[in-house]
Amino acid sequence: MPEKLAPPNPPLSDGIIALRAFRADDAPAVSAACQDPEIQRWIPMIPVPYTEADARRFILMTLQAWHDGTSYEFAIVDAATDRFVGSIGLHLGPNPRLHAVGYLVAPEARRRGVASRALRLVTRWGFEHVDIERLALWTLPGNVASQAVAENAGFRFEGLARNWTSDRDDRPTDAVMFAMTPDDLADLVALEAGAGAQTAAAGAVAAGAGAAEAPLPPTPPMAAVPRELRVPGTRAAPFVQVAAIADLTPGSMRRVTLAGLDLLVAWTPDGIVVTDDRCPHMAAPLSIGDLDGCVVACPLHEGRFDLVTGETVQMPTTGGLDADGNYHSPWSPSGAELKPEPPTRKIEARRLTRVSRLRYYPARFREGYLEAQLPILPE
Ligand code: FES
Repeated sequence: MPEKLAPPNPPLSDGIIALRAFRADDAPAVSAACQDPEIQRWIPMIPVPYTEADARRFILMTLQAWHDGTSYEFAIVDAATDRFVGSIGLHLGPNPRLHAVGYLVAPEARRRGVASRALRLVTRWGFEHVDIERLALWTLPGNVASQAVAENAGFRFEGLARNWTSDRDDRPTDAVMFAMTPDDLADLVALEAGAGAQTAAAGAVAAGAGAAEAPLPPTPPMAAVPRELRVPGTRAAPFVQVAAIADLTPGSMRRVTLAGLDLLVAWTPDGIVVTDDRCPHMAAPLSIGDLDGCVVACPLHEGRFDLVTGETVQMPTTGGLDADGNYHSPWSPSGAELKPEPPTRKIEARRLTRVSRLRYYPARFREGYLEAQLPILPE
């Protein structure tokens, strides 16, 4: 067990929030926050109903854990007013590879970056003072807000841990696993040092705190693509930043390569789509084709595809099978009759090549960025 630590004095703070040990008079605010259905939904170990006596017990437990050196739980408070806005804890395991971090934010303080700020402060403090080889962070699969916090704070998505935890009825349930290692933190610190002032300008958390916030560019519309054409494996995947909104322009297409995936980000008249930058015929990069309304023309074989419906508008000149398995003969764009070719393996391969429907990565906008759910595998 690592050496016992005392709550930092002065409290950890980035000027917007502060992290301090809990006090008995936090109980009403803790109890009020834990009435929130979202907290109850995503943190199954929280008692329901949650009373002020539960909050007092929780606070006593956190103080005892500080004393024992088994867990370091902080109240997240507004740095200006000391108002309780959430809770974050570094929970120590039996060895340096089994420590974990968890957090919650009161409903009225959400969407202001509170959890990301608290997580940054705690991870840096933890790695500095505790022997940590791996710091785990897990969420329930549907808790995309919490997954975004993990990603924002530099935790890496690792995958779905099956039957990792229990639901409220004590049934085994899956968890989405993230982790940070000392190397990850070193990378992050180097990256942030390069970003400089940009980090300091990130949004204010509390009304009246007075922190400057850079104006965000207007958010483009998101195209309503068919849900059944979602890329497999994205349902529980974390959201990952794909592009700054400021870098996107209406009517444009661009390739973004992330974790070995070549993505096509297109801004069609119906809105933004994120799909693979691979023609559904023979994988040519669609990003260097022509976009006409919602239809992209592939730079090879004249295939044309609707980026919003996922359907083939024009089969390639080579012919082949459509998405439903129907055969289409080769054709010539000029209308000239094609000379019959002698049957070869190449002709047979073309005949059997299926032109599938496009597939989409679920996407959203957050704090000036386009984010998409990517089924990233651990490196
Ligand atoms: S590769 Fe795009 S139509 Fe053939």
